Amino acid sequence: MPTSKSSLLSLQNFSKSKVETLFSEALQLKNNFNKFNLTSGVYHSGYRGTAALLFFEPSTRTRFSFEAACSRAGFHPLILDGGVGTSLEKGETIEDTVFNIEAMRPLFFVIRCHDQVNLPELETKLSVPVINAGWGKQGHPTQALLDALTMFEKWQNLEGKNILFIGDIKHSRVVASHIELSTVLKYNVAFCGPEDFVNSEQWNSKVKKFHHLKEALQWADVAIALRLQKERHDNDNMFLVDDYIENYGLSANKLRHLKEDALILHPGPVNYGIEVEMEIHQDKRSVILKQVENGVFIRESIIRQMSKGEV
Ligand code: NCD
Repeated sequence: MPTSKSSLLSLQNFSKSKVETLFSEALQLKNNFNKFNLTSGVYHSGYRGTAALLFFEPSTRTRFSFEAACSRAGFHPLILDGGVGTSLEKGETIEDTVFNIEAMRPLFFVIRCHDQVNLPELETKLSVPVINAGWGKQGHPTQALLDALTMFEKWQNLEGKNILFIGDIKHSRVVASHIELSTVLKYNVAFCGPEDFVNSEQWNSKVKKFHHLKEALQWADVAIALRLQKERHDNDNMFLVDDYIENYGLSANKLRHLKEDALILHPGPVNYGIEVEMEIHQDKRSVILKQVENGVFIRESIIRQMSKGEV
């Protein structure tokens, strides 16, 4: 790794060409990987060092895909998964945990943590790059990139596309990163969800809002359903789940209003029967598992670019 740090904490200072380089490398990696299987021999040779993957909040897709991406790029992942069995249980702080792991000389960090950790400040204290793998409600840049890669595969250009977020927008770090990425790739963003969830002072001026799902789906080229982030709600009486399902849950019947060549995304984990029905996987517009597949390639491409000092 070069000595200059090229961390990925947000997409704020990203250029379109940087995003396109990541996309084109990710798609090339995908293409190469498609020719590889269990019996086709060595994928790559060469061990490049260790990477510390520290997940202080739960994760399945993001953590496994970073593990896979590290290993495909030649880095051995050292994993902290939620902290059970570590000295966090004895009261050691997250910051101190990170500094102790840094002393073991990983070549970069991948960190998921809650809002109370000041991730940008922590990053300045570390000598190696940090990738944000989901920071409280603040951002989840690699998820926005993998979503956009999945759309890019279909359209090769996202300028002017209408991206609709449905549901718990207020608590979604995925939306926060999409707001940043939308200014780079010039796609339009709109929200549709319960009043409490779509009103976020941060974003009000930047997005269109729909009160009715039918109208919103008619507008959208991409519909992204979001998980109800119960763990981030102040109280659980903010809305009634049955009303939510009736008004915002994606059923085959409601999806009649979505364009035929549109895409349906969900960052996962999915609460089936709430945000979307199980039958969503039969809808040919759904690319939910393709997002997961693409998550590994975009993360591998980020790691490879970062190791050239180019993220
Ligand atoms: C998201 C996350 O953790 O922010 N999921 C993910 O990383 N794939 C969304 C969520 O938790 O609802």
